[in-house]
Amino acid sequence: MKHLVTVSTLEVNEILQILSDAENYRVNQRGWYPKEKMFVANLFFEASTRTRCSFEMAEQKLGLTTIPFEVTTSSVQKGETLYDTIETLAAIGVQSVVIRHPEDRYYEKLQEQVSIPILNAGDGCGQHPTQCLLDLLTIQQEFGSFKGLKIAIMGDLRHSRVARSNAEMLTKLGATVYFAGPEEWRDESNPYGTYIGVDEAIQTVDVVMLLRIQFERHSKNHSTLEEEYHSRYGLTVEREKSMKNGSIILHPAPVNRGVEIADELVECQRSRIFKQMENGVYIRMAVLARSLQSVERGMNDENNYQ
Ligand code: CP
Repeated sequence: MKHLVTVSTLEVNEILQILSDAENYRVNQRGWYPKEKMFVANLFFEASTRTRCSFEMAEQKLGLTTIPFEVTTSSVQKGETLYDTIETLAAIGVQSVVIRHPEDRYYEKLQEQVSIPILNAGDGCGQHPTQCLLDLLTIQQEFGSFKGLKIAIMGDLRHSRVARSNAEMLTKLGATVYFAGPEEWRDESNPYGTYIGVDEAIQTVDVVMLLRIQFERHSKNHSTLEEEYHSRYGLTVEREKSMKNGSIILHPAPVNRGVEIADELVECQRSRIFKQMENGVYIRMAVLARSLQSVERGMNDENNYQ
């Protein structure tokens, strides 16, 4: 079985293979197709536009059948556990589940217990593996490789699953990662970067990776900080002018326009924000294909016993 719950378990070769598969799907507009009809379900316990819709698009492009599942009208409302929900779907024929959940590492025990692969679409403040992979693809398309690149991850580092996944993988692939942003949102538990000032980061790096302020995960009222955020830590029109030639802007979105980034920069020449979203479809095709190929191999193994 081929779960994808964290990027930490991916070897460099496997990451590069996923990026290559995704790029082939993008360029050739063709995917892998299952030998027989296959079924998946998307379980979103938290709000999403990009991740959910691009998984659904990826499933359509691979010819998969998506079984509709809505948390608000499911038996989750009657207290059914995540394990029972997944095994119920497995029992009726679903072969892989995509899950977004507010709890950090919701998958830890589940991955040993369930009978079908889990693709993590984001867990609390933990990991967002497919966002990380689509960010890597966007950087690779721009620069060809990761070695020697300087990348600044900026903003709400403490609450960001994107920051954790990306800093680890970019370091593994040979880039140098810097962090910048408010002291209050530093993440001392993330060892894969060095803290520098916002202006120094913006002026020196190849990739300015902005993070959304995760208002929904803040326990304290940071309203004063939020008001000042754009001028002190955001990518203002003035700061963008000081960026290096050829450097690019990423943001996982949704964007708080006028907070992390000036409204007029969201679609500027350096911005790859909508490109990231497009790449999300191809990355999700690649990870769905890998997970379902492992299911197919399992089916074949079972057939071999008959
Ligand atoms: N970037 C991202 O995960 O966006 P959604 O929350 O809209 O899926």
